[in-house]
This record gives sequence, C-alpha cells and structure tokens, in this order.
Amino acid sequence: MATLIVNGQSYVVDQNQKLLPFLRDVLCLTSVKNGCSEGACGACMVLIDGKATKACVQRTDKLDGKRIVTVEGLTPRERDVYAHAFAVCGAVQCGFCTPGMVISAKGLIDQNPDPAPAEVKEAIKNNICRCTGYKKIEQAILLAARLFRENAEVPKGELPGTVGDSIKRIEVADKTLGTALYADDLHLPGMLLASAVRSAYPRARLLSLDTSEAKAVEGVVAVFTAEDVPGAKKIGHLVHDYDVMIPVGNITHFLGDAIALVVAESADALEAGKAAVKAEYEPLTPILSADEARRDGAELVHPDHQDNLLSFQCVKRGNPDEAIKNSAYVVTNHYSVPFTDHAFLEPECSVAEPEGEGVHVYSGDQGVYQTRKECAAMLGLPAEQVRVTAMMVGGGFGGKEDMSVQHHAALASYLLQRPVKVRFTRADSLLIHPKRHAMEMEFTTACDKTGKLTGMRARIIADSGAYASLGGPVLQRACTHAAGPYNYQDVDIEGYAYYTNNPPGGAFRGFGVTQSCFATECNLNQLAEKVGMTPFEFRYKNAIRPGQVLPNGQIADETTALVETLDAVRPILQRNPKAGIACAMKNSGLGVGVPDFGRCRIEVLDGKLHLHSSAACIGQGMGTIQTQFIREITGLPLEKIVYHVPDTSNSPDAGNTTASRQTLFTGEAAVRAAKLVKAAMEEAGSLEALEGKSFFGEYEGKTDPMGSDKPNPVSHIAYGYATEVVELDDEGKLLRVTAAHDVGRPVNPLSLEGQIEGGVVMCLGYALTEDFPLENGKPTRKFGTLGLFKSTMTPDIVPIIVGTASKDNLACGAKGVGEICAIPAAPAVQNAYYNRDGIFRTKLPLENTPYSRK
Ligand code: FES
Ligand code: FES
Repeated sequence: MATLIVNGQSYVVDQNQKLLPFLRDVLCLTSVKNGCSEGACGACMVLIDGKATKACVQRTDKLDGKRIVTVEGLTPRERDVYAHAFAVCGAVQCGFCTPGMVISAKGLIDQNPDPAPAEVKEAIKNNICRCTGYKKIEQAILLAARLFRENAEVPKGELPGTVGDSIKRIEVADKTLGTALYADDLHLPGMLLASAVRSAYPRARLLSLDTSEAKAVEGVVAVFTAEDVPGAKKIGHLVHDYDVMIPVGNITHFLGDAIALVVAESADALEAGKAAVKAEYEPLTPILSADEARRDGAELVHPDHQDNLLSFQCVKRGNPDEAIKNSAYVVTNHYSVPFTDHAFLEPECSVAEPEGEGVHVYSGDQGVYQTRKECAAMLGLPAEQVRVTAMMVGGGFGGKEDMSVQHHAALASYLLQRPVKVRFTRADSLLIHPKRHAMEMEFTTACDKTGKLTGMRARIIADSGAYASLGGPVLQRACTHAAGPYNYQDVDIEGYAYYTNNPPGGAFRGFGVTQSCFATECNLNQLAEKVGMTPFEFRYKNAIRPGQVLPNGQIADETTALVETLDAVRPILQRNPKAGIACAMKNSGLGVGVPDFGRCRIEVLDGKLHLHSSAACIGQGMGTIQTQFIREITGLPLEKIVYHVPDTSNSPDAGNTTASRQTLFTGEAAVRAAKLVKAAMEEAGSLEALEGKSFFGEYEGKTDPMGSDKPNPVSHIAYGYATEVVELDDEGKLLRVTAAHDVGRPVNPLSLEGQIEGGVVMCLGYALTEDFPLENGKPTRKFGTLGLFKSTMTPDIVPIIVGTASKDNLACGAKGVGEICAIPAAPAVQNAYYNRDGIFRTKLPLENTPYSRK
C-alpha cells in the first residue's frame, strides 16, 4: 500500500502495481503514454519529486509519499507556454512523444532556467521521438525556458494561413497537453480487452486447439478461433493471404500468426486466459531467407501457391547490355540491407463497439476505408455496416497500412455485442506489423569517359516475409527508381520478392526506394572516382533536367528541380570536399496506372466550412495542410474552417496515406472543393447564403501502367527530388546533414522542415545503427535495442527547401515530401565514411564506424 500525491491530489493505492497503468487506467491521465512498458521510449515520463522518471518502470509501493506530476498537473501558465513553444517551433508531429518531452523539459527548466542547447539534448536523451529529429523539440524547450525566465507574455495571434505560411498545426495544443485521444485513450463503458494467442513456431501445422481451460478462467468472456470468423478467413491489403486466425489443420506462416483470440474483463484475466489455451503443433522446417525460399524444391510458405515467389518486377528500356559493354567505366557491387522496424511511438491499438447491424471501429491507421474494407470482408458484412473513425495516429511510416488489431477488435465486438479493445504490446508490434524489406542487390552502373551515365543493370532480391502485404508494390518502386534521377535510358532491372516464414515485409517510408537508392548512389560515387570527377560534378552532369527523359521513360516535367538541390549544397562541398553526397527521387502517388483519387467534401454549417476527407494524418499535418489550401482558395479566415477527423460515415474516400500522395492528391481535391465554394459564395453574395450546402472536390491522377508501350509513359503524376550532404567531425561522428529538397511549392514550411529533419534522422539510423535481426523467425531486438537515434546522437540537420512549381500546378504546386526525406542520407553517410577512411562499405548498417555495435 502507498499514498501517492498525483498532480496535488492524494491517492491511496492498495495494490502494488506499475505506476503507468495506475496513472493511465485508474486515473485516466491520457498524457502519460504507453509506448513500450519496457523503460525504453520515454513516452510515459512523469516527474517524481521533481525528477523526470519513466512511469512504466516504477512500482507504486516504492513511491509512498512521493509527489507525481503529469502534464495534466501543469499550471495554466506552464500549459500556455509549452503549448505555444511546441507549436511555433514545429516540435509536434504525431504527438505521441510530446507530453513526455514536456515533462522532461519541465524537469530541466525547473532546475536550470537557462539551459544550454547541449543540456536540453541531455535532458531529453531518454525520450525517443521517431518523427521530428529532435531539433525542433530542442528549440521549443529553449523557447519555453526563455519565456519562463523573462516572464514574457505568450504571443497571441496567427499568420493568415495561406499556402506558404508556417501556421501552427491545428491539433498541436491537444497533442502537447495530452488531451488528443489515441485509440488506447478510449475507455468505453463495459469495454472488454482482447488479445491473440500467437503461433509457437514460424512454420508448423496446427494439429489441435483446446480452449476449454481458457474459457474457464475467471474473467475470460470468450475464446474465438478461425471457425468463429463469419466472413473471409483471409484478408489482406491487395492479396488476400493474411489469416485472421490459423484454422486447425493448417500451416502457420510466421510467429505472429494468431491461432486464438481471447476476450476478457481485465488485463490479468486476459493473460491468464491466453496462457491456458492449449495448442498442439507439428513443427515444420521454416524458410528463413529469400535464398532458401527460391531454391528448387523449397517448402512452400503458402501451400496453395506454386512457389514462394510473391512478386517479379522488371524495368527494361533501351539496350543496356550493349550500353554497358561499350562503356569506358563500369562498376558492379553487391549490397545488403536489413529488415528495419518503423518503431512508431504508439503501438497498435483499436477499439470496436456494436453499431446497428455491424460495428464501429476506432482505429489509428493510415486509411479508414482500407480498414473498413478488410473488417467488413472478415465479418461478411456490407461495407456500410462497418464504420471506422480515425483516432490520433502515433506515427505510422507505412507500418499501419495493414490490419493488425482492428480486425480482431471488430470480430470480438461483433460476436459479443460489446465494446472491445485490442492493444499490442511493444513485443507484439515488433513481431507482427510488416517491416522494411531486407534486400540483396547486385548493381552494375556504367558511364562513358566524360562521366556521362550510359546504362545500368540491377538484380534485387527481397525477403517479403510471411504475407504479401505491400511487398509487390514496394519491390516495384525499388525497381522503378533503381536507376536514380539521372538522364540515361538503357536500363535492365529485375526484382524478385519471396515469401518466407519471417515477419512480413511491407510499406516503410521510402517504399523500396530507400534500399535501391543506397545501391545506385554508392555505385555512382565509384564511377565518379574512376572518371576523375567529384561525386558532385558527376551528379551535376547527369542530373535529370526538365524536358529530359528519366530512365523509366517518363519525361521530367517543368517542376523538376534536382539541379537546384545540387546548387543549394554546392557551397558545402566547396568548403568540405570530404562531405558525403547522395541524390534521390521519389514519386508522389500510387502511379503506374493504379486508380488513385484524392477526395474532399466541404460542408457549410453554422457559417463555417467543415472539411471532411478520409486522408489520414499520421503526424505529417494533413488537417492543417488541407485547411491552408481551403484558406488560400476561399480567402476565408482560418477560424471559419473546421477540420474533422476521417470517419467513413461522412468523409469521402481519399485512399491511404502512402506514397507521399496526400498533400498532392487530397490537397488538389481540397483546392477543387474550395474553388466550388468560392464560386458559389461569389454567386450567392455571402458564405451565410450557402448554409447547409456541400461541395465535393475530387482529383484523379491518371498514369500509365507498368510495361506500357508508350514511348514516354507517365509512371507518376509528380516526383520530388533531393540532394543530401553529410559532414563528419574529426572523430568520425556525424557533424551536420544538409538536406536540399525539391518540394514544389511549400504549403507550410515549418511542417516541411520537420518532415525533412525527422526523415533524415530516421535514415541516419538506417545507415548506422538500426537493424532487426531474426533468429528462427523471431526478432531478437527490443524497442530499446533497435538502434534508434537519440537526441544526443543527432547532428545538426539543415533543411533547404527549393522548388520551381507554381501555384497553377496541382495542389498549388505542392509535391509530397514524406518519404524522400528518408532516402538519400544512407548513401551520403556511406560516401562520407569512404572519403574519410577509404573503405567502400556495401552493407547496412555500415560497419566499423563510431556508431557500430561493439
Ligand atoms: S512506456 Fe515507459 S519508457 Fe516506454
Ligand atoms: S512527434 Fe515524436 S514520436 Fe511522433
């Protein structure tokens, strides 16, 4: 027993327990987030007697008489200052880390009102942020300290909010102060908890299941198996190969396969119920690599398939064999890149409750319509009987495109007619959601004696794990971008993705291009050296320019500004010739002939424009961006525009947040809807005259399919381009990364910078520290050992925004930036180390650097 003083109130805690669930589940303090429950993320940070401490590792009995402060316990002045500072510095993206950051900031500032930047870094070194790259958080904390020190007024007012204004994000105060609700913050009356029992083997025949003991556990309400699934037993994003649960008699595909779903009244009963489920297996030899999967006579991961090949992709143009043979210089290298995990701060969680004849699912995902489609198929219901409402999304980066928890929540809720929550532990999250693909890549690149690129050949082998997920399109993007943003047309690229019994590979920021860009750009530097050019000169010579033809045949449009990104970093290379450099290109939109729509509906209610679209905000600020487009076109002030979170009951389907597409696609749809509003206002004479009316904007990006016989097919509606430069210090540690990005026309420069800084830091981790090793199909890392960059490891990131698009282009000239910012840093880092020590590294994470694991 202990008495805790939480935010000034005394609580007697009879039962010794972890502090985190006491604060979250008993006191309902939603600012205290559960990112790992392993003491590794800092999302649960609270002050205990003034010291920033992780609540998940504290037990209440040890805290008798202690004073605990959460963000809910801040004074009004503190709330104002932190909300302001984090907003104007652009320190908040998904927001899941933010209250924990605020607590660490308060812990510092209360002791040290005038901290140095290094002290701020030190104070938040135990708070992981996967979105921002820390820089803007550090700036926010320094600003907050100054406002407190000077007892300064918190400035009021806001910029007009047109395109180009760095306005505050619309949800920033709620995220900063912990009142923004993520799925795990929902507590519905009578809500049950559910969790799946997972396979004991990566590949085994499930011989029998006995759920009787589990059902007898006190507090267990039900145990469901595959037999209880009323509709499709297999679902999936594109390919329906993902078992809702493995039926008895069938073969498991990986350790994350669900075999039974236990539903209980409490967390303790749930764990006891799961432990009581008895399963018998016939273990089978697993396929643990793409190499094993493609051997003749290999066992089949999916017994109903002919082989283990998930996807073959091919991009062939010109006469690459001849071009390579006749080239003055040719380089060939083999590159290996590992699986990596998204490590979004918020583990997957979903709540479902009965609604009408179906269910209402609350979900933090990347597309509510995708969730609806898969849940409805599984329940055997018409889509309209499944409603999906978006909650805040604590980071996605591609890892929340697939069903993980939503379908199980929907199933249990539908069958029991009660609200049900399914929440992953961090270990569940690491095991189950699809990863960035591990790839083996052999790349040959050639040029003439002047350094003009002539041709390339690439062979890419991807481990796509247990299920298709988005493995096919990821491989396709790896291939379509493998030649890089350069002006040459003789290419021969083949990619193969194989099913294995590892966790699935799927979408992850960069979508395959992160991998193939590493190979392309490293090869380019070797070629440059052979020619006797600097990597910069080589790129400048070959960089794609407007009107030229990309390696995939598409003509680069007038907004192409790769050269401008090179020009932006030229002074750095002149000052520091040892800096590493890499370029990249990345599509905006699904492209290659796939139907691709952005949609937005504006409703006039109470004299305001209410904005509805299903475009998910996963931390990139989608609501704010749409609001700015509508502000720009209609001229109405920001306070007249009300953003609503995606909800299938009233938001038009704008597709998933993926492929850097939403700013352009749903942005253009918002522009079109806003133009209709403007025209109607002009005709009617006032906004008030439009009360009750709805205006619908839609944009379809039409592209040509893969293999199109057009001489210059349009593969994608738009491409972003970038050049990044990495500088090392005397000890070989990262000093600075300069990231010049062609974003078209910036909508919200502060948000853009935040995307770039965060993406760069994510890619530095990919280059130097992150991996995701598996032993017999089982992840061996925990959240704390994934190799995520911390504040104290992060160098200065300098974003430079360039672009030549005009407001007459689609979406007022904006292009996506969400992925490209996480692509070129890895080869630029490789180049920087090569320039330092002459070792040409071909494997990620790079070996023998000051960041290598001992
Ligand atoms: S939830 Fe406590 S450190 Fe992650
Ligand atoms: S804003 Fe920090 S984890 Fe998303």
